[in-house]
Amino acid sequence: MTLSSIQKGPFEGQKPGTSGLRKKTRVFMEPGYLECFVQSTFNAIGGVAGKSLVIGGDGRFYNDKAIQIILKMAAANGAALAIVGQGGLLSTPAVSHLIRKRKTDGGLILSASHNPGGIDEDFGIKYNVANGGPAPESVTASMFDETLKITEYRISDAPDIALDQIGQYQIGEMRIEIIDPVSDYAALMEDLFDFDKIKGLFSGGFTMRFDAMHAVTGPYAKAILEDQLGAAAGSVINAVPSEDFGGGHPDPNPVWAKVLMDEMMSPAAPDFGAASDGDGDRNMIVGRGTYVTPSDSLAVLAANAHLAPAYAAGLAGVARSMPTSAASDRVAEKLGINSFETPTGWKFFGNLLDAGKVTLCGEESAGTGSDHVREKDGLWAVLLWLNILAVRQQSVADILKDHWAEYGRNYYSRHDYEAVPTEAANALMAQLEAKFDALPGTVWSGLTVTTADSFSYHDPVDGSVSHNQGLRISFGGGARAVLRLSGTGTEGATLRVYLEQYAGPEADHSLTAEAALASVRAAVIEMTAMHSHIGRTEPNVRT
Ligand code: G6P
Ligand code: ZN
Repeated sequence: MTLSSIQKGPFEGQKPGTSGLRKKTRVFMEPGYLECFVQSTFNAIGGVAGKSLVIGGDGRFYNDKAIQIILKMAAANGAALAIVGQGGLLSTPAVSHLIRKRKTDGGLILSASHNPGGIDEDFGIKYNVANGGPAPESVTASMFDETLKITEYRISDAPDIALDQIGQYQIGEMRIEIIDPVSDYAALMEDLFDFDKIKGLFSGGFTMRFDAMHAVTGPYAKAILEDQLGAAAGSVINAVPSEDFGGGHPDPNPVWAKVLMDEMMSPAAPDFGAASDGDGDRNMIVGRGTYVTPSDSLAVLAANAHLAPAYAAGLAGVARSMPTSAASDRVAEKLGINSFETPTGWKFFGNLLDAGKVTLCGEESAGTGSDHVREKDGLWAVLLWLNILAVRQQSVADILKDHWAEYGRNYYSRHDYEAVPTEAANALMAQLEAKFDALPGTVWSGLTVTTADSFSYHDPVDGSVSHNQGLRISFGGGARAVLRLSGTGTEGATLRVYLEQYAGPEADHSLTAEAALASVRAAVIEMTAMHSHIGRTEPNVRT
């Protein structure tokens, strides 16, 4: 093996966003682009000499090539061990679990999550630290600093490794283990949940559909739901990971998982439907005829988690991202446990989980998880729902109705305005924020503003402060709007408008979200002068 130092870099724009570095695939394929980012990551963590890493991705185009490059770079940088999923596949929660189980120094995940894949679509890379979670802001900031000054990277000229063959390999001094991507994760799930109860549910005729969206959860869901738990063959659809996710967006929401949604709303719907995203950390939950918003799902899981063995002793607390609805806060209050409001991005939950302050976390962006790993976990959420359904023997719709009757309903929807020119989006946000001092007491579309602020998070564990995490406006009568710019887009800006309206336990819970949120939506459009800034008021996606 020959080691070389290649003169290259720096490249512009290698600043990690909400969830690592995401760019068009062709950008990552530019000579030296991926290499410089990986070397910068290694440099930022004090090098990888003698260290161990978990490496895997969601199977999108360039996944295998990127892994071959990273392995040769890790070897050239003196790493001791790389644990890689067979075929280069590992779901994000499975990486998090392996980092923890094998006590590695960290891991690299190749994914752009729910964004489409292919040579003309998106690619991404994310570094996770030794607790299994995404690198905190202090680490991503030094990674970015390194990308600005990098001038060379180190790589070996060893031949490619046979990623498809489970076994032990070697590049120079570095050991490589190619492992089955599913088995460790499946064993963890069996520890957490009552598999016998769930088996009983399926053997009693319960039906489900899990849409793996041609992405990484296919092999996991087949093994766990069909082979271990006895769901009927064919319960898992689109189960073979493909490089371009079958040409779709592997994003589990009513828009991109429309085929599943249509089936769940039809007379022939199975009892339960679910989907996960490209890298397996997001989830969508649907009952027969009933879509469960991610915010409601978090609240229902928090209220019922004690029905699963792993959480039988109760929860330490629940955390949600700021734009997520307040439904889970009400559960935490009733249970008398901690509740926290964090910025968008799973990395903000890491400290709370490590410090034992919370057990469950969730985000409106279809992420739910617990202290079993340090990432959100799509299949985990599906299994917790199944465990709850198996114990309660009620439909999803009835569980939701009962929940709202007890806690009230937080009507909720997120409206996304995609590919907005960055300057227009920035101007809309800046002009709205500039008005904040004068907003309380003013009336917009019949709603009176009570408070308006830009969200700052004070981490109660390490004392760090994150400013500018979204603009929030509360109105009298239980309405709230949040506006922020996405940190995961790859084209222009994506303006996210999060709308919420609380209806107490005695109120009407049977409205459509659209009807319940019409006033707060109109207030936002008016208050931001949306049309004059971005030329439209209709979002591309409503979740
Ligand atoms: C990723 C992160 C999540 C985050 C989501 C939306 O999935 O892991 O934590 O909520 O992106 O982020 P965005 O900045 O696009 O709203
Ligand atoms: Zn994801």
